[in-house]
Amino acid sequence: MKVTLSVLKADIGSVGGHTLPSRRVLAKVEEVVREEVGRLLLDAHVFHIGDDIVLLVSHTQGPRNPAIHELAWKAFREGTQVAKEEGLYGAGQDLLKDAFSGNLHGLGPQVAEMEFAERPAEPFMVLAADKTEPGAFNLPLYLVFADPMYSSGLLLSPDLRPGFRFRIMDLAQTERDSYIVLDAPERLYDIAALLRDSHRFGIESIWSRKYGEIAAVVSTTRLRNIAGRYVGKDDPVAIIRTQKIFPATEEFGPPFALAPFVAGDTRGSHHLPLMPVRANTPASTFFCVPMVCGLAFSLKDGRFSEPVDLFADPVWDTVRAKVVEKAQEMRRQGFYGPAMLPMEELEYTGIAERLKELEREFS
Ligand code: 13P
Ligand code: 13P
Ligand code: MG
Ligand code: MG
Ligand code: MG
Repeated sequence: MKVTLSVLKADIGSVGGHTLPSRRVLAKVEEVVREEVGRLLLDAHVFHIGDDIVLLVSHTQGPRNPAIHELAWKAFREGTQVAKEEGLYGAGQDLLKDAFSGNLHGLGPQVAEMEFAERPAEPFMVLAADKTEPGAFNLPLYLVFADPMYSSGLLLSPDLRPGFRFRIMDLAQTERDSYIVLDAPERLYDIAALLRDSHRFGIESIWSRKYGEIAAVVSTTRLRNIAGRYVGKDDPVAIIRTQKIFPATEEFGPPFALAPFVAGDTRGSHHLPLMPVRANTPASTFFCVPMVCGLAFSLKDGRFSEPVDLFADPVWDTVRAKVVEKAQEMRRQGFYGPAMLPMEELEYTGIAERLKELEREFS
């Protein structure tokens, strides 16, 4: 049986600022999705990261299926209705269009989907980020899928030895989707040359070269390309299959413990490290530090096991303490230099208009 995993994420409003969705909003979204388990869906799991709500669903409809996307749209719309009733901040923030048109792409929510024939044991993980940019997973995924210093499986396992194929998207293209396909290890430097620029390029998917099997998919929506202005951050979700012909679950640990500086946090306009947190963590009042959470599941006949929270064990408290130090160092220099995003990234915010006005005062 071919199973499709779809992860759909949207920020539809939050309590007391950009913190977390209310319990009633989450319950409404979950209720709408749950109604379809056993009908359109094989299974569903709903959680949140900061103020973004994540729907993980399994089904047999394939990626980009209108019925699946419409269900998510309906759940987010009904959740938005509750958010409005409660007066939550940014109610319906990521729903950038009024009408559903067969597909969630271009409407605002983040979408990552993959279809595969289930293995006898099918472990996989879902990653979800808040307060950051679509390229936020570039470095950790590069390290896991292409660097033996981090990913011992590339040396130890004959299945991983031929390497992985990277499909990378140019996020600056607004008219049409634009991709490049590069094989690691042969094109390692080219992959690095693109992925270093996490504002511009994002990994869209990764494939096993030996088996042609899909390993990872990442969402690539840029909200500002839809809205034409800053409307909140377009932070990614990802689905990643693990073990056997793919990297082991624990090989993702050190790359995420690195907590690279990424764009995001307050007003989506700064650089801070991507902090690994537990699922269902509210956004931080520490300047909305970018956050990623991860849940791993085992899949059987399209049904999910209970999840394991990948960033919950005691090691991650130590990592978080280090990440806080790193973040505080950067925040100390306020607006200056790399602490705030470069001008190209800020042009969708108010500072661009202010600088135009100032131009007139130059002589
Ligand atoms: P276990 O012996 O606990 O199954 O661990 C196997 C392993 O290789 C972990 O990386
Ligand atoms: P969200 O994208 O999570 O709504 O955050 C917006 C923001 O600018 C926080 O400072
Ligand atoms: Mg928000
Ligand atoms: Mg959010
Ligand atoms: Mg977000």
